[in-house]
Amino acid sequence: MPLPILDAIEQRRSIREFTDQTVDITALHKIIQAGVWAPSGLSNQPWRFVIVTDATTRALLAEQTHYGHIVLAAPALIAVYLEKESMYDAMKDAQSAGACIQNMLLAAEALGLGAVWLGQILKNKGSVGRILDLPANLDLMAVIALGHPSRRDQKSQRKPLAEFIVKEL
Ligand SMILES: Cc1cc2nc3c(=O)[nH]c(=O)nc-3n(C[C@H](O)[C@H](O)[C@H](O)COP(=O)(O)O)c2cc1C
Repeated sequence: MPLPILDAIEQRRSIREFTDQTVDITALHKIIQAGVWAPSGLSNQPWRFVIVTDATTRALLAEQTHYGHIVLAAPALIAVYLEKESMYDAMKDAQSAGACIQNMLLAAEALGLGAVWLGQILKNKGSVGRILDLPANLDLMAVIALGHPSRRDQKSQRKPLAEFIVKEL
């Protein structure tokens, strides 16, 4: 029985430690499918994805981020890109990418997998593009590291709701 959506939203944690078990390609496609069901401005669906399971490529990508140990530990990576020709507004397209990525994290959770959104690697997005041999019209938004969690006792906190709500009129 799948988790009700509000439970999945609250229970999802960033998972950074994985077992050696590979991730089924069908699961990776389901996760991307969840991503593309995200809303996008004008429904332009500007996202593009690169799936990486190859160990040599993962090792090269690991060198591009301070969080290389996570990249090395994860048996699968999904790099999320915006395709420049499909974009219409930099801010709104980046927001669409964020919605897409969150859908993917929730889908991973629903499939019993663990995932973490890696953003620090964006500082080397040029090198990442060269490693993946991608054209310049793709702009990296994030790399999602995925795998079977080796533990599930991660804790995370949120400030009380009252600190976020500026006004109720
Ligand atoms: C835009 C963005 C960039 C992030 N970049 C990284 C990253 O480079 N490395 C990492 O370990 N976690 C990264 N995270 C995950 C956050 O650290 C994590 O979501 C936060 O600590 C809250 O924990 P939770 O996801 O378990 O609730 C990123 C999250 C977002 C939304």
